Amino acid sequence: IRTQVGIIGAGPAGLLLSHLLDRAGISSVVIDKRSRDDIEKTIRAGILEQGTVDVLVGTGVSDRVLREGHKHDGIELRFKGEGHRIDFPALVGRSVYLYPQHEVLKDLVASRLAAGADIRFEASDAELHGQLSDTPTITFTDAQGTEHEIQCDFIAGTDGSQSIARRSIPDADRRDYFRAYPFAWFGILCDAAPSSDELIYSAADRGFALISQRSETVQRMYFQVPTDTKTDDWSDARIWDELQARVDGVDLLEGPIFQKDVLQFRSYVCETMRHGRLFLAGDAAHTVPPTGAKGMNLAIADVLVLADAMGAYYDNGSTEKLDGYADTALRRVWRGQQFSYWMTSMLHATPDEQPFDRQRRYGELETVTSSEAGRTYLAEAYTGWPFDVGY
Ligand code: DHB
Repeated sequence: IRTQVGIIGAGPAGLLLSHLLDRAGISSVVIDKRSRDDIEKTIRAGILEQGTVDVLVGTGVSDRVLREGHKHDGIELRFKGEGHRIDFPALVGRSVYLYPQHEVLKDLVASRLAAGADIRFEASDAELHGQLSDTPTITFTDAQGTEHEIQCDFIAGTDGSQSIARRSIPDADRRDYFRAYPFAWFGILCDAAPSSDELIYSAADRGFALISQRSETVQRMYFQVPTDTKTDDWSDARIWDELQARVDGVDLLEGPIFQKDVLQFRSYVCETMRHGRLFLAGDAAHTVPPTGAKGMNLAIADVLVLADAMGAYYDNGSTEKLDGYADTALRRVWRGQQFSYWMTSMLHATPDEQPFDRQRRYGELETVTSSEAGRTYLAEAYTGWPFDVGY
């Protein structure tokens, strides 16, 4: 198989990259170890920055996001039994969209396949070769057991947090930054109507809770738990009691819970995001804790920069933008890390939190919510900073 860019990972980053490259007349082949069905069904992130929506709509991936997604003009921060609204349009003139990641993936897969893209699902044993040469290759085994080799000019590693592409970079050539957090989220999906128009981020004495949504009929909610929590330890009745207690003052609409999961919190950055002709993007290069919903949005921002750099290379042979890719992408990544860390630490109690620390956090929440500058700071980050490149 011969192509210009070999892409490992058919998540939001890999598929959007393939799409943007195609628009610039650059060929790509995408492989993924999962099946199309798995990719389109796995329920993950839910919030798209305004800019992310603009990319999907503006480059022709999806107008469904405008019809079926829900524009959210704010969030509520709750503490000490009171809600405080952050009004995004009033503060920064932008909003966010609630549109689940698997819907983004359905749109991306459909639009790529309609354009005749070569996507190989259920590709196992992927290996990268020759990243430091001018002729890198990817080998893999297809669903029928046949081995293939992709010969390309560049490899994009968009294969998520367990990235094999990242692991192909020798330890000596990369620096890993990592932080674990002493708590996790218990997440549920349930059949119920939304309990509120907007998301509620609640810092309660019993711990954090987030009331999110997926659709008119499916809701996503989370509450902070110890890292060793097992889903089996929580009956539905116990979950509802805990959620209700943590959003003190809001009446949650309950319904049958059909999925329970425990999400560990970690922050991770791989420096560099480039090794010869291998370029990492999205979760393959960085992970944020979920609070603030930056993960998928950062992946999209990486890909814009990478597609622009590859476009310049094929246009005029210049490697200047490719050489700048990691620095440009990492600047936004660290801003995203900071925001996710800040939201997380402001809203969660650590297990060893002292009474002083708790009151200080409430003081921080008071400061942010009572000041227009504070609310604006939050709204700018939540709705997404301007992109570094056009598209
Ligand atoms: C969701 C997750 C988040 O971390 C967040 O800040 C907002 C929404 C969600 O999964 O719905």
